[in-house]
Amino acid sequence: MLGWIVPPPREPTKTKEEFACERAAKVDELAASGYLKSERIRQALLKVGREEFIPRLYRDYSYLEVPLPLPGARATISCPHSYPLFYEPLGLEAGQKFLEVGLGSGYGAAVAREVVGKEGLVVAMEIDPVTFQFAKANLEETGYHDVVLVNADGTLGYPPLQPYDRISITAACNAIPPPLLDQLPLGGRVIAPVFAGNTQMLVLMERTETGMRSSEICPVLYVSLQGKYGV
Ligand SMILES: C[S@@+](CC[C@H](N)C(=O)[O-])C[C@H]1O[C@@H](n2cnc3c(N)ncnc32)[C@H](O)[C@@H]1O
Repeated sequence: MLGWIVPPPREPTKTKEEFACERAAKVDELAASGYLKSERIRQALLKVGREEFIPRLYRDYSYLEVPLPLPGARATISCPHSYPLFYEPLGLEAGQKFLEVGLGSGYGAAVAREVVGKEGLVVAMEIDPVTFQFAKANLEETGYHDVVLVNADGTLGYPPLQPYDRISITAACNAIPPPLLDQLPLGGRVIAPVFAGNTQMLVLMERTETGMRSSEICPVLYVSLQGKYGV
């Protein structure tokens, strides 16, 4: 998988308590390494059990810094550090309307739902029907019934609920899909891995009064975005 070494599948052995300890240790590590800054994102990462979003045979590896395979054609759950890496520069906060393109396991949507709270809204899109059903079941089982789930090409965005204060694209594109830029209001931000030759750069864009302002965050490695404006 994309240059990552995926650990071998095996029957899970860890208890709920062991996962809780690993989760707390991971959150401390993310804070110490500078990825995690905001208290709201910290609380969300502590609350959502990542192991609940991972296929059974990979569950013991929930808090390892590797992407793990998901049901579906090309889906993975991203490494644990990816979530603060994306959500901190986005400035994800309470009350915002958030669109995720690339639902995967549903974990990122659950974390975002904790951050935006009941006064906000999470809309999450997934193109692969098998991956979509996996995420939907995970979110239902963990009690996230109010995330709006859309099984469709996320490069087109989701016009019925636009505009979105924040958009996260969790797969790599050649450029941010124009329909997603159109669904951002003034002050709105979008983050995505963008191909630069054979490598990828995590790019943040914000709509300002004078146009789109763009900044580069760091090199990353993600599966390719599919769909009309995909790779
Ligand atoms: C790295 S995974 C997402 C991880 C996810 N955020 C999570 O927390 O598990 C990228 C996902 O984007 C999906 N994807 C790729 N192109 C897409 C598109 N055009 N629209 C919606 N989803 C897409 C893939 O099927 C895959 O599930």
